Amino acid sequence: MLGGKRERGRKEEWRGGCFSYMVERNPTAFLKQEYDALVAQNIDWRVRVLETPSQPHAVVDGKQVVMFCTNNYLGLATHPKLIKAASEAAVKWGAGSGAVPAIAGTMSLHREFERRLAEFKGVEAALLCQTGFAVNAGVIPQLVGEGDLVVSDQLNHGSIIDGVRLSKAERGIFKHCDAGDLERVLDEAEKKSPAPRRILVITDGVFSMDGDIAPLPEVTEVCEKHGAMVFVDDCHGEGVLGGGRGIVHHFGLQGRVHVEGGCLSKGFGVFGGTICGSRDLVNFAFNKSRTWLLSSSHPPAVVAAAIAAIDVMETEPQHNKNLWDNTRFFKKRLDELGFNTGRSQTPIIPVIVGDAGKAQELSVELYKAGVFVFPIVFPMVAKELSRVRVQINALHTREDLDFALGAFEKIGKSLGIIK
Ligand SMILES: Cc1ncc(COP(=O)(O)O)c(C=O)c1O
Repeated sequence: MLGGKRERGRKEEWRGGCFSYMVERNPTAFLKQEYDALVAQNIDWRVRVLETPSQPHAVVDGKQVVMFCTNNYLGLATHPKLIKAASEAAVKWGAGSGAVPAIAGTMSLHREFERRLAEFKGVEAALLCQTGFAVNAGVIPQLVGEGDLVVSDQLNHGSIIDGVRLSKAERGIFKHCDAGDLERVLDEAEKKSPAPRRILVITDGVFSMDGDIAPLPEVTEVCEKHGAMVFVDDCHGEGVLGGGRGIVHHFGLQGRVHVEGGCLSKGFGVFGGTICGSRDLVNFAFNKSRTWLLSSSHPPAVVAAAIAAIDVMETEPQHNKNLWDNTRFFKKRLDELGFNTGRSQTPIIPVIVGDAGKAQELSVELYKAGVFVFPIVFPMVAKELSRVRVQINALHTREDLDFALGAFEKIGKSLGIIK
C-alpha cells in the first residue's frame, strides 16, 4: 500500500505466469494534499460558529460582535411575526412536510405562499422551490438544451454557472454588466447556421460579491430585439430593491422579464427558493425541474414564516428604509476614509484589499475588535481582488455603524490599506 503522501505509484505483480506493472493508488491521499494546498495559499474556509441568531448583535465563537455578514438584510429572521407564524405552523402541521412536492409534499400552506408571493411580486404565478441554488440547477437546463444558446454575465453566481453547465445548450458569456457586449454575442450567434432555436440570457440582479446592480433595462431591450428569454436571479435584490419586491419593480420592468429566480434566505429572513413569472413558466418549471421533482418540500414552519415575511414587507416599510439609510451612511464614510468599495450600489459593500492574506488579516483584526465580517477570496473572486465583504442590515444602529467605522479606520491604517 502507498504511504499517506503519494496519490499514485506503480507496483509489480505476478499475473498469468509473468510480472506485470499495475497502477497503485492511495484512494484518499488527495483529501489532505488538496486541503493543505488551500491552507498554504490562505484560501481555505475558516468557518466561524454563531451562538445566537443571525442578527447585528451576535455571539460568534464565544465573542460578542457586531455582525456585518448576514444576508438577513431586513432583520426578519428574528421578527416576532415570523417566529410566531413558524411556531404555530409547527404545532398545527408538524415538523416536516413528509414528501417531495410533486407526490404528497404540497400542503395548502405551500399553495398559500405561492399565491401570496405572486401577488406581492405582481406576476401571474410563483413556485416555491427548495433553495435558490436548486432553482438555477433545476430550471436552467430545462429552459435551454441542444440547438439552443444560453448567455451569462461573466460574474454570475456559481449556482447559475452550474445550472448552465448542466444544460446541453451552446454557452456564451458577456462582459460584466455590459449590454453592448451582450448584443455582440447575440449578433454573432444569429449569423451561425443554423441560428439558435431558443436563446436564454441570464444575469444576477444584485451581484453578490460586488453589490452592483445589473443593467436590466438595457439587457431586456437587447433580448427583445433577439427574441431571447430574460432570466434574472434576484436573490440579493428581493427585500432590498423595489421596496422589497426586487429588481424588476426597481426598474419598472414588470411583464418584460420572463423568469425571476429568488431565494427566501436573505431579505425574507427564512429559507427556500422561488420562481416567479407567467403561469406557463410555472407549469413548465414544476413539470420539468429535476431539483423540484426529486427533492422534498419545505417544512411547514418555514413556509408559514415566509408568508409572514410577505405580510411584514407589505405593512412595515420602515425596515427597507432603515436598510437604505444605513447603507448610504456607511458606504459614504468608508469612501471618505479612502477604502476601495468597488462598484457597490447596494447593502453589499466590498472592501477590496487585493491580497488574500491581507483580506484574512483584516477580517481577523476586525473580529478581535468586535466587528464580524468575512474575507472573500479566490475562487469566489479573482485572486488579486480579495476583500472583506460588508453587508449592511436594517437593524444596525448608528452606534453600531460608528463603532465598525472606527475599527475599519484604525485597522485599515495599521495594515497599510488606507493612509
Ligand atoms: C445570486 C445567488 N443565487 C443563488 C443563491 C443560492 O441561494 P440559496 O442559498 O437559497 O441556495 C445565492 C446564495 O448565496 C445567490 O447569492
